[in-house]
Amino acid sequence: YHVDMNADETDKGTYPFYMLKEVDEQPNVMRKLAQTYLSEHGEPQIDDKLIKAMQAADRLYIVGAGTSYHAGLIGKRLFERLAHIPTEVHVSSEFAYEQPMLSDKPFFIFLTQSGETADSREVLVNVNDAGYPSLTITNVQNSTLSREASYTLLLHAGPEIAVASTKAYTAQIALEAILAKALGEVNGQIIAQNFNVRQQLGLVATGMQAIVDEKATIEALANDYLMKSPKAFYIGRGIDHAVSLEAALKLKEISYVQAEGFASGELKHGTIALIEDGTPVIGFITQAKTAGLTRSNLQETMARGANTMTIARQGLAIEGDNLVLPDVDEMLMPLLSVVPAQLLAYYTSLNKGLDVDKPRNLAKSVTVE
Ligand code: G6P
Repeated sequence: YHVDMNADETDKGTYPFYMLKEVDEQPNVMRKLAQTYLSEHGEPQIDDKLIKAMQAADRLYIVGAGTSYHAGLIGKRLFERLAHIPTEVHVSSEFAYEQPMLSDKPFFIFLTQSGETADSREVLVNVNDAGYPSLTITNVQNSTLSREASYTLLLHAGPEIAVASTKAYTAQIALEAILAKALGEVNGQIIAQNFNVRQQLGLVATGMQAIVDEKATIEALANDYLMKSPKAFYIGRGIDHAVSLEAALKLKEISYVQAEGFASGELKHGTIALIEDGTPVIGFITQAKTAGLTRSNLQETMARGANTMTIARQGLAIEGDNLVLPDVDEMLMPLLSVVPAQLLAYYTSLNKGLDVDKPRNLAKSVTVE
């Protein structure tokens, strides 16, 4: 498979489904974001007014639904680590009707691929009524949420047509990283100054390419682990837990496997009771601090009969790991670890003969609350 750059952006080309095309486009989306928002020397090129408005805030509130919410969970880590600003992440349909107590100077970030999600818009309407500043990060220019927010940044991911979101998730994370670097630098954070996001996104693009080139391996894993089980678990800690949630959502959406993303240390406090002979448990190991712990948690499930699969980054991989991901900065590992999960979901759906791009009961953009 290769991406035909001359084809119409909404043409499937030789791909059987849009989702696979969109997964494959991710390396180019990373490069495009770096070109759009970073100078040749890696300096963020972001509207000064936006950065000043964010700098004036005492807390960031990220709001989104579905996959966009999951991208926010990664964004929280990026903003807190690189820009040293407390950041909360909220599901828009919850926030709209049970608003948490706000800080004195909140700044809102709306993540929305379509820019049309009614649940998220409802929050923005309230935010505007209260006079708080906001930014919409979206893939669709002139969309409702982009028009109604104080600022907009575009994802430049090209049209995303498959209902299950892939390239918008990774684009949102990459853009959050660029924004967090920009804010961290003006906040005088050494970690942000030293974070070479341009170089890192280059490594991410190369790493993504290496993963999408392993389709045959990933399809075989999908067949071995996921085709015959009605349920599955993705586990990890911290950032790996956040990716687990998105990995599980992909599997639920298109292959109808009842999947759960779980904080691996929390399994023993109840959920491990669900593990039976052959239950697939897929562990993400990309963070040095928690690698050993997640490995023990995987073993605990294996001792109870689980069919465990380990996805580890190179620097933390050991013999027997099923998939080894290239090393990039740990903060950006979600950009790589989500890709095999997207493909595992894709092949499970495909080989079950389901409509990958149009799963039952779901719509690409949900304009009702
Ligand atoms: C729908 C889609 C999901 C998407 C969510 C949020 O439910 O099926 O894939 O993540 O809406 O969409 P947005 O356009 O706001 O990112």
